[in-house]
Amino acid sequence: MTSAFDASTLSSQSESGSSSVVRLSEVTKRFGATIALDQVSLSIRRGEVLGLIGRSGAGKSTLIRCLNGLERPDSGDIEIEGRSIIGLGERELQPLRRRIGIVFQHFNLMSAKTAADNVALPLEIAGQPRAVRNARVAELLELIGLADKADAYPAQLSGGQKQRVGIARALAARPALLLSDEATSALDPETTDAILELLRDINRKLDLTILLVTHEISVVRAIADRVAVLDGGNIVEQGPARRIFASPCAATTRSLLRAYRPTLPDDLAARLVAGWGERTLLKVVVIGARARAPLLAELALATGLRVSLVHGGVDRVRGEEVGVLFLEADGRDRAQFSAALDFLRLHADEVEVLGHVAGDA
Ligand SMILES: Nc1ncnc2c1ncn2[C@@H]1O[C@H](COP(=O)(O)OP(=O)(O)OP(=O)(O)O)[C@@H](O)[C@H]1O
Ligand SMILES: [Mg+2]
Repeated sequence: MTSAFDASTLSSQSESGSSSVVRLSEVTKRFGATIALDQVSLSIRRGEVLGLIGRSGAGKSTLIRCLNGLERPDSGDIEIEGRSIIGLGERELQPLRRRIGIVFQHFNLMSAKTAADNVALPLEIAGQPRAVRNARVAELLELIGLADKADAYPAQLSGGQKQRVGIARALAARPALLLSDEATSALDPETTDAILELLRDINRKLDLTILLVTHEISVVRAIADRVAVLDGGNIVEQGPARRIFASPCAATTRSLLRAYRPTLPDDLAARLVAGWGERTLLKVVVIGARARAPLLAELALATGLRVSLVHGGVDRVRGEEVGVLFLEADGRDRAQFSAALDFLRLHADEVEVLGHVAGDA
């Protein structure tokens, strides 16, 4: 028999315990009159890649610094693998801090140490014996594809190779969470892609949880499972990446993603009048399998209404199709148009009648 007590214990466990690697509850951090974090609640689930985006000054770095104990929140709670870090002293914080591996924008490698010795550093600090260190370093260099660069010094490595070493070092102590703070911002686009591929590979192979803090939306689009948006110290939106890219809700998210989602061209928007008309504009969102289906052909077959694609297209978010289509249809036959709307509502993820286009074509 299950008592009410058991049920509540179970539900609190599934929210804070095994499923979340990190959990922030109503975390507030002020610097004088500035509220850098304002009652932020956020969970990072085991095995996911969470992309944290926001404008400059939104509070991203403050959130990271609170996570690794460099800043102390004024109020709220932070749990790492179910253990609260609030109120812990430096000594008690150390082992929890080791559960978080950090990859930095500027690599932060020690120039007088070889790639292998840089990777070994966290293990040395943790007091691991040499044989254990050597085995782990060899394994990590293999994982990042730099087994042949073990004895190279940072100055002899390219930016991408340095960042690979940075990633291996962050993974050395087998962290529960990999924190990437603008890890690809200093790299060219091709190298960025290669590093993202590596992070994704690590995420899959090791089932490693990754918090990706970045101002590069393309990075988030490539590998984030979920996205959280910070603005003025508040999480204004969070959700599955494909949903955020397909239909962002918050104004900040819309603005940040502007270049990455199709929006109605200005000339059409300027001539848009509410309601149905001769030329009615629709916005349709289709995700995954629905974006691969021959939706418009089937719409014509089912209802006789032929529509034109006037703007938009299908993009990929973490390898999954996200289609945002702007369609123009003849809206004069109201019954036919209603049937078409019903059809689209059944077969698309989102349908919106934007209005009809007035004036000259
Ligand atoms: N040590 C500090 N002392 C005073 N104010 C601070 C301090 N650290 C951060 N702030 C303020 O807190 C707010 C959030 O800063 P934070 O560095 O977290 O932003 P961010 O999102 O990382 O920005 P960026 O993208 O530019 O790195 C800003 O208004 C900033 O000026
Ligand atoms: Mg910052």
